[in-house]
This record gives sequence, C-alpha cells and structure tokens, in this order.
Amino acid sequence: QRDRQLGAGSRVATSSGAEPRSATGPDATRRAPSSSASGVDDRSSRSRQPAVRTLQSPADHRRTVGQVQDALPEQVSAAIAAAAAAFPAWDRSPADQRAQCLDAAADRLEAHLGELVVLCCREAGKSIPDGIAEVREAADFCRYYAARAREAFAAPLELPGPTGERNQLSLHGRGVFVCISPWNFPLAIFTGQVAAALAAGNTVVAKPAEQTPLIAARAVELLRAAGVPDAALQLLPGDGPSVGTPLVADPRIAGVAFTGSVATAQRINRQLAERNGPIVPLIAETGGQNAMVVDASALPEQVVGDVLQSSFQSTGQRCSALRVLYIQEDVAERMLTMLAGAMAELQIGDPWDLATDVGPVIDTDAQQALAAHCARMDREARLIYRCSLPPETDHGSFIAPVAYELDNIEQLDGEVFGPVLHVIRYRSDALDEVIAAINGTGFGLTFGIHSRIDHHIRRLTGSDQPGVRAGNRYVNRNMIGAVVGVQPFGGEALSGTGPKAGGPHYLPRFAVERALSVNT
Ligand code: SER
Repeated sequence: QRDRQLGAGSRVATSSGAEPRSATGPDATRRAPSSSASGVDDRSSRSRQPAVRTLQSPADHRRTVGQVQDALPEQVSAAIAAAAAAFPAWDRSPADQRAQCLDAAADRLEAHLGELVVLCCREAGKSIPDGIAEVREAADFCRYYAARAREAFAAPLELPGPTGERNQLSLHGRGVFVCISPWNFPLAIFTGQVAAALAAGNTVVAKPAEQTPLIAARAVELLRAAGVPDAALQLLPGDGPSVGTPLVADPRIAGVAFTGSVATAQRINRQLAERNGPIVPLIAETGGQNAMVVDASALPEQVVGDVLQSSFQSTGQRCSALRVLYIQEDVAERMLTMLAGAMAELQIGDPWDLATDVGPVIDTDAQQALAAHCARMDREARLIYRCSLPPETDHGSFIAPVAYELDNIEQLDGEVFGPVLHVIRYRSDALDEVIAAINGTGFGLTFGIHSRIDHHIRRLTGSDQPGVRAGNRYVNRNMIGAVVGVQPFGGEALSGTGPKAGGPHYLPRFAVERALSVNT
C-alpha cells in the first residue's frame, strides 16, 4: 500500500500515521507538488518530469511504502544556491536562537514518536525497539548540539595574554554544509549531521540514503516546524552518482559530513581535493572490522548475551556491530555450544512483530552480497550455527543469522554488513598476535573485551603499550548503542576522520575559527 510521496525537493504529499494511509491519488505520483519542502525552487525543472521511484518494504517487497521523486541536476544546483543565500542570516543569528530551534525539534521528534517508529519500521525494516531508540537518539543529538552551541558559539573566547591587547577567538559557520547520511540510522544519523551543521551556523543541503528518503523528509518537516528556516535546510533525495557527486563537486559548498562506506568516503575525499574551490573539510564516519576478545576469565552467560546483541541486533546493520569474535581456545568449545543454543532462540521475521529479534536487511542488493559472502564461508570456513528462516520471510530481503569459525581474520575481504558473525580461537599466549591481526585490518571503529583479568584489559585497550586501535572500546558489555553525550561515537584510520558524533569536539569541526586582536 502506498502511503507517502516525496518530490525531489518537494513536500511529502500525504501524511503518515501509525497506520498506513492511502496516497492522494495517482496524479500526485507524477507531478512534483508546487510547494517545496526543501526550499528548492523547482520552476527550472518543470520542463523535465522527475522520475518517480517506488520504495518497497524490506520485509515484504510486495508492500509499497511510498514513492519519491529524486532530485534533478538543476535542483541540486538550485538547492546549493538557496542554502548559500540563506547562510549569512542563519550564521549571524544568535547561537541561542539556533539552539532553541534544535531543542524544539527534539520536542517535536518525541511528540511524533509513534509515527516515526512506524516509518523506520516500514521504510528501513527496523524493529520497533530499534525504531524507538532511533527517535531517542535523534532527539538527543538535537539537544546535545544545542547545548554545545550555547557553550561554544554564543560569545567569543577571551584570551588575555602578554601582548597587552584584547584577544578573542570565535567560532562561525563555514557556509553550505553537505550532509550525506546512511540508511542504517535513517533518522538518528540524518538528524545528527543536520543538527550539528545547523547549530554551528551552517546552512545545509542534505542527501539521505536513496533507500530511506521518507524518514528524512519527515525529519526535515519537523526541523522546519521547529523554526529552522526553509531555505537553511534543503533536502535532495537521490542516489550517489546523480545527487551526491554533483553536490560534492560544487565549489559553493563549504564542507561535507558523510557516513557510509569507506570506498565512498575515499571518493568524496578525492573529489573535494580535485575540485576548483576552497579547501573544505570532510567529516567521514565509515565502516569497521569490529572485534571482541573473550578470554578464559570471562563470564560465559554474559558473553553470549553480549555477543548476540552486538552481532545480530539491528540485523547486524550497525557500524558498531561485532564482526569477529576471538575466543581463548580453552573455553571456546563451551562458549560456542552456548552461542549456538542462544542463536537457535532468535526470532526472525517481520519487524512489526514485537517478538522479532532479527528483521530484514535493507534491500536485495545487500541480501545478495551477504548471500555471496555466506556461500564463500560455507566453502572456506566451519559453520557453527545458522538460524532457519520462517516462510513469512520469503518475500523480503532476509538473511539467516549465521556464525562461522575462521582460522584467521585475513580470510575476510572487508566489512560484512549484516547478521554474520565470524569466530576465531586464540591461544592464551597469543594476545599480541591477536592485537596485531585486528589492527592489521586497517579499521579502527569499535572493540570489545570480555575479561576479569586487569592486565589483559590494559594490554588490549593499550593502557600500557599499544593495544587495539579503536574509537570506541567496550569492556564486559555489548559493543553497540553508543549514547549521545556520554559515549561519543566514531573511529579512526579506515573507519573515519573523527571527530566523534555526540561528543564535545564535534561542532567545532563544522565551524571556522576567527581571532580578533585589538590594540586597546
Ligand atoms: N552509533 C551506533 C552504535 O553505537 C553505530 O552505528 O551502535
């Protein structure tokens, strides 16, 4: 059932609610509505009809979730122009006023919790608990960045010193910031990037993942209703080649915040370096080859629960998810038997069902890539356990949660973004080799430790000598679900540029610093 429509830079044509609603009619699917939710002036595109794309539910491809009109090249340009024109006023507005808009946006996100959870569930295949957490995180980002903006942007920093002059340092928006967000946190990461850029005084052109434009469109509506000027926040649905590439190539943009694959981050980096225009920052958060090390002192029941959550919650589609579990060989057999037993209890199915633990992956491309990886693992690794898929999953993009035992981490080509866990046994005297192997992947996002031995924890976290390189380390707990403001999130090396989202150093990277020295 079709229930929402979204034009390229156009208003969502129908409302959504807890229940799917009908569209306004077939005509509306072919014409961009005349008023624009993104602020893009689409007069120039009237000669060309934007193509309408139908979005299907990942849980059942026979269900239509909505339709979207992707942005045309001229709309990309118009969006940048509109955001650039809106920049001076937004940047000059008091930081407290921008912060008030974000606080109000957080209130609105919470007030629309039910509707947003439904959208996350329908469009992205999220479970209901994951959908609730997503709205929570989006609201947290808004409030957190509002608070940081009040602290850091409201007044210049006074820097008294030996020159006898009045010295000040102040932060300002950079200009038009491009925010390119992923489908796996279609509301939280979308809102987090946008809120940070706006809080710092930038105007924004946002390109959500092509799989999840409806959630992004709703977030834009709520941000605008909360007081963000229409022109200061432009939404451009579409794919990377037709929207992302021209956006990043445009000399009028002042920075890019990107969350997604390493390959795309590297491409954006090259594009930014090669274009003719100001040198601008890329804030990239990419993937990981996230490992957890479990030694013989760990508590088995706790390990199994945390491994299950870290690997299979959100169908393994979190940047933070556990991909490679190292278990000390002395306890491996017992732990793996317990793990297989726990996996057998996982409920796989429709994310609408509150009993569901593991829903679909995002689309058939992801499903096929994961199936190809599992086919290779079936040949090259030892199967520990594979869950069975119930018949109701036949029409969706489902992958059976599975665990394989490998000899070493080099058997993996890269990040496997889904419910696939890889296990490696290690000897008790081989901790250094384990650390080297994990660091050898080149990634550095999350890392977990289960141990009751202090010097193992210190060795692995690098307290005494270089340990595992990772942006977020978790000891004796799961390794997902970083909390805004207290567990700033983000990696290093192949996993991203930093700064950490939801941390105190994030906003300044969206800003320029200006010093003022007055001879009094
Ligand atoms: N911020 C998310 C988490 O910590 C990652 O994608 O799970």
